[in-house]
Amino acid sequence: MENITSRRKIEHLELCAGSHVEARTAGPGFEDITLVHRALPEINMDDIDMSTVLFGKKLSYPFLIASITGGHPETTPVNAALAEAAEELNIGIGVGSQRAAIDDRNQRDSFEIVRQKAPTTLVYANIGAAQIKEYGIGKVEELVEMIDADALAIHLNFLQEAIQPEGDRDARNCLEIISEIAKSLNVPVFVKETGAGISREDALLLKKAGIAGIDVGGLGGTSWAGVEVYRARDSGNSLCEHLGELFWDFGIPTAASIVECKVSVPVIATGGIRNGLDIAKSIALGASAASAALPFVRPAFNGKDAVVSVIGTMMQELRTAMFLTGCGSVGELSRAPITIGGRTLEYLTQRGFNIKDYSVKDML
Ligand SMILES: Cc1cc2nc3c(=O)[nH]c(=O)nc-3n(C[C@H](O)[C@H](O)[C@H](O)COP(=O)(O)O)c2cc1C
Repeated sequence: MENITSRRKIEHLELCAGSHVEARTAGPGFEDITLVHRALPEINMDDIDMSTVLFGKKLSYPFLIASITGGHPETTPVNAALAEAAEELNIGIGVGSQRAAIDDRNQRDSFEIVRQKAPTTLVYANIGAAQIKEYGIGKVEELVEMIDADALAIHLNFLQEAIQPEGDRDARNCLEIISEIAKSLNVPVFVKETGAGISREDALLLKKAGIAGIDVGGLGGTSWAGVEVYRARDSGNSLCEHLGELFWDFGIPTAASIVECKVSVPVIATGGIRNGLDIAKSIALGASAASAALPFVRPAFNGKDAVVSVIGTMMQELRTAMFLTGCGSVGELSRAPITIGGRTLEYLTQRGFNIKDYSVKDML
């Protein structure tokens, strides 16, 4: 018999595959970012080195498939397709929250398949901050071992917890347990938001807690408040539906959150990353890599080749952006000049960030 966590996993996957769940009035902010075109790139597009190293693993591209699923038998083929694609492209991949496998050992297969199908590339484990308080270090180690993970993501999703009826709303002492886990686990531990972004205030607290990286999980892509609206409607919960509607576009847009999180730890840009130009802009803003979830949900139901095709297009878009900015490597792209306008400029200025850092670098 499936438990509540397991049922919720399949509901989320089906909703994301079939309903409009993205931010409605707010974008991730990439429309405000301009990469400065180089009419004389002076490099061969075919020679561009898009590889990077993240959490000690060399990837062919600065990209990961963000945590999506696991925890229900029907998610096993989905995770298999995603993992096969990650292995073929040599990019990173995260599993969805492994909570369901702690609640019920029978759900482990749907996570273990990821390491089976992606034996060499970067695979990260996943658990919520709200759950680690309950589990403690022993169980967290088990999650890493389950998939022989190269890193662990602790996800923050208090926006969703606040809206879903069964949500865990006690956010006290998360930082303390994150710090404990970051210090005692033998793989890098990073923290990921899931669609509402991370501020400089929290980035600094997390850095002090000893985390190895931050996935900004900003506003502008999948909205978990939005996902909960559909679930609330189905169950006739009008208060949760109202809260989900009101907070559908709540949070820090991804582009701004990358700047917020520049605290000298690797930053992963996630939340509304939809093409290679978004990835290039993220890296020029300060991210080490980018990731996305929603664009791969539907393709994953059609198998590995469909996922590879979508990501392959994104990587060709990224290569084109690197060529047109004269960047022969990811390192060069991270130093490429950009301009920032619109709401992102307004936001960053009011927050006191020195956006002049992004103007002409040491090229003139
Ligand atoms: C169907 C689905 C399930 C997800 N489940 C998880 C999860 O279990 N744990 C987690 O940390 N993030 C989860 N996420 C969030 C993503 O990893 C990502 O942060 C978020 O969707 C924003 O990226 P996007 O706009 O590209 O979808 C999930 C996303 C989707 C679409």
